[in-house]
Amino acid sequence: MSCCRLETERLLLRPPEEADIPSTVVLLGDFDVAKNLARVPHPFTRAHAEDFLRSSIEAHAAGTAFRFSILRKAGEMHIGSIGLSLRDGVFELGYWLGRPYWGQGFATEAARRVAGFAFYNLKATRIVAGRFYDNPASGRVLAKLGAVAAGVEPRDCLARGHAVYCHNVTLARENFGRTRKFAGAA
Ligand SMILES: CC(C)(COP(=O)(O)OP(=O)(O)OC[C@H]1O[C@@H](n2cnc3c(N)ncnc32)[C@H](O)[C@@H]1OP(=O)(O)O)[C@@H](O)C(=O)NCCC(=O)NCCS
Repeated sequence: MSCCRLETERLLLRPPEEADIPSTVVLLGDFDVAKNLARVPHPFTRAHAEDFLRSSIEAHAAGTAFRFSILRKAGEMHIGSIGLSLRDGVFELGYWLGRPYWGQGFATEAARRVAGFAFYNLKATRIVAGRFYDNPASGRVLAKLGAVAAGVEPRDCLARGHAVYCHNVTLARENFGRTRKFAGAA
């Protein structure tokens, strides 16, 4: 699939570019962001950001992942990242925002658009996601999309250096947009 710029009311989602590397290093270098993600090391260096960019381009060409940088339309400032990666044959949704941009509805806005991309462009019938037990804000984002609990399992967290309980959720196309109380409160 050729890709791909997606838009929402306030955001532009486009494939990662070299120009995003410096902001990625700063924003993902924040432990409070990295500790909520499975595969982001801490400290996070320029070399890590370059690897991420390279792997995003390769995965996109192979159709195994579709990653987007999140930019505010106003000023086109890079504020985070969101994507779908194949895991055990199902697309898994993942996202992060730099700390200055939390609490303004941006993750929900971006996640809704990318879930729509998964269902209507990639023709997925369901997508999955996981959030660590101590990350209720992400549970709320997923619940607002209509995701339902799908069990708890330990998952390695590179930044913390150990496994952390992860609440898995599933979002089925037919439930997309039906807000739930709390996603992953299994
Ligand atoms: C999780 C994260 C993406 C949320 O981004 P955001 O743009 O602030 O999210 P939104 O504003 O769209 O929605 C957050 C929701 O969580 C709620 N929330 C925030 N903190 C909360 C808390 N401690 N307990 C319960 N709910 C909380 C907000 O009230 C909001 O819900 P509401 O719209 O019903 O009021 C962001 O904090 C982040 O990037 N964290 C670090 C990386 C990460 O956790 N990625 C997700 C991995 S699964």
